This record gives sequence, structure tokens and C-alpha cells, in this order.
Amino acid sequence: MLSNRHILILSTAVLLLANAATEQGAALAQSIPSLKDAFKKDFGIGTALNNAQIEERDPQTTAFIARQFNMATPENIMKSALIHPKWDTYNFEMADKLVEFGKKHNIKINGHTLIWHSQLPPFIRGIHSADSIRAFFTDHIKTVAGRYDGKVLSWDVVNEALNEDGTMRKSVFLQYLGEDFVTEAFRLAQQAAPKTELYYNDYNNEQPAKRAGCIALLKKVKDAGVRIDGVGIQGHWHLGKVPLKDIEESINQYAALGLKVMFTELDIEVLPRNFQGADVGQRMTANEQSNPYTAALPDSVQQQLAADYEALFKLFLKHKDKITRVTFWGVNDGDSWLNNWPIRGRTSYPLLFDRNNQPKPAFERVIALKK
Ligand code: G3I
Repeated sequence: MLSNRHILILSTAVLLLANAATEQGAALAQSIPSLKDAFKKDFGIGTALNNAQIEERDPQTTAFIARQFNMATPENIMKSALIHPKWDTYNFEMADKLVEFGKKHNIKINGHTLIWHSQLPPFIRGIHSADSIRAFFTDHIKTVAGRYDGKVLSWDVVNEALNEDGTMRKSVFLQYLGEDFVTEAFRLAQQAAPKTELYYNDYNNEQPAKRAGCIALLKKVKDAGVRIDGVGIQGHWHLGKVPLKDIEESINQYAALGLKVMFTELDIEVLPRNFQGADVGQRMTANEQSNPYTAALPDSVQQQLAADYEALFKLFLKHKDKITRVTFWGVNDGDSWLNNWPIRGRTSYPLLFDRNNQPKPAFERVIALKK
């Protein structure tokens, strides 16, 4: 039997060892080169942040984020379902914390997102009149964009309004407000947030058909004399299939409209998928082959991921005069939404840092471009 004294000695030793490991981990993380510093003269480097990160629940994670990134987008907390849960109730608690987080760590915040067909508050389903949808739309933009004017750098004013063929997506906003809802959203945002940059954001809008629709949409806003400052290409791409040529043409064509170009939700999926894009409504059924790398990522895949990221960042650097920000959709592989979409509970590896915030070969290749 162990005496109380033995138990005390043992638990103290365990604690000391754990602390030493934590300190070692922290020191190691701080010795990794910093992405934001490496690309300081080129473009901002951003990440998506979740609740735990915004609330600084783990000091090591906070230090890691502050070292690697100078821009951040909230992954969920500013979406209308969360920030505007009831018709006449807003919940600003987490968004206010995010603004504080940004101030404290010198990280610029991109608000995400004012008008999106997804993650809408449940009460929207009970609304069946154009007047009420307009009242929601107007009040939401005025209240949320107004509150954070001067506190966030920018807003994704409208998110994912387009179909793959470039036509307008069927949404509650299109149905009740008509095609001009996009211009109207920017007009309201401009009035409520004169100090904030205003962006349109979408996925696959580097693909020619969707890009053409996107350009037409952006021109429409500009032709109405309404301010729009930039366009976000989300960048949810696939291993070995990053569409570099389409991306380059898109950078050039969007920049030619006088807009800032951003890559706003970058990740590269390594797991099997039978479609492209990031439509959260789309799901896949799991089978025996759908989660192949639960133990580890095979080296061949790791190397392909590194080559893809290197090629992408080479292209970004080539066009650094037009690109203002590159944001990863998550800090490390463990945070990524791709572990749960389009199939729940998979093990994905789409980012530059592994589940312990250790740099992957893809990180080394990206950083090497600046050496
Ligand atoms: O918070 C609830 C939790 O209480 C509940 O128990 C759990 C069970 O399902 O769900 C949790 O909410 C989830 C939320 O993420 C927070 O983790 C939602 O189900 C889940 O649908 C939601 O997914 C988000 C998705 O947008 C939904 O629209 C992802 O985190 C987020 O990465 C993703 O981000 C979008 C961009 O905003 C727009 N572009 C595409 C991109 C990827 O889909």
C-alpha cells in the first residue's frame, strides 16, 4: 500500500513532468517560424476562430495563434443564427469577446457574415411575407454592422449568393427581396459601417461559370454607386486538384474591377469526396473507404499536400499586389470543419499545422518560399 506521503510525492512528480512537457511544448511552438512575419510585406495571414479559441481557454493555443496570424474570421459566432437568435434579441457576448481578442493580440477581425442563406435564426422559417423579411434584413445589417463599425476591419456582407452556373441561388432573400438584395445589403452596410471594408464572399467563384456570375454581381453593386471593397474566394480545394489556372485568371479579373482579392477560407481536403465545393447542405454517406487515414497521413499524401500548398503560395506571391489576405479555415487539422463534413467523425488533414500545432511539410514548403 502507498502511504499518503508517497502519493503526495508521486503526484507532485507527475505534475512537474506535465508542466515541463507543457513548457517544452510552448517553447517549441514559439520556435516555429511565424507565417504572419514571413508574409508581412505581402499580405495578411488569417485563421478562423472557434469559441474555445476566442475565450482563450488554453493559453498555449492563444500564444500560438498570436504568433502565427494577424487576421481572424469567426468560424460561427457572428452568423445570424447565433448573433440574432430571436426576432428582437441579439446576443453580442461572443462577438464582443472576439473584438477584445483582436485588440489584445493585434489581430484584425473580418466579420462573417451579415447575409447568408445558411445558419439563419430558426424564426425565419415562420416568416412568409416580403415586408417581414425586409424588416429582418434591414434591422440585422444596421444593428450588427453598426455595432462593430470601427471595431472590425471588414465584413463579408453577403456570402454564397450564387449557384455553380453563375445564376443567383434560391434563398429566402432572393425569393422575397429579388435579385437586388445583394446591392441593398451593401447599401445598408455602407450606411451603418462607413469605416468598415465591405466584401462579397463565395466558394468555387474561381470556376469560370460561377466567376462570370460573380463578376456580373459585383459590377451591379458598383454600377448602383454602392461601395464594395473586395471579393473573397473561399478556397476549399482538393488534394492534387487545386485549380491554379482558374485561380490566377480570377485574381486578375477581380482585381481589374478595382477590388481587393482575398483567399478567405483556405483548406485542402485530402479525404475522398465525390463533389467539389463547400455547400454545407450537401452530405455524403460513409462507407469503408471514406475515412482512410485514422492512424496517420501516408507520406505520399503529405508530400502532395506540401506541393499543392507550395504551388498556391507561389501564385499568391506572384500576385501579392492584388491579394490583401490569405485566411486558413482553422488553426490546426484538429479544428477543421472537414473532420465533420460532408461525413461526420472523419480524420482530415487539410491545414499547415497538425493536431498538436506542429508544422507539417506543407508549412515548411510555404515558409521556404520566403527564405
Ligand atoms: O454548437 C452546436 C452544438 O451545440 C451542437 O451540439 C452540435 C451538434 O450538431 O452542433 C454545433 O453546431 C455546429 C457548429 O458548426 C459549431 O461547431 C453545427 O452543427 C455545424 O453545422 C456548424 O458547422 C459550421 C458550418 O459553417 C455551418 O454552416 C462550421 O463549423 C463552419 O466551419 C462552416 O463554415 C462555412 C463558412 O461559414 C462559409 N463557407 C463554407 C464554410 C464551410 O462550410
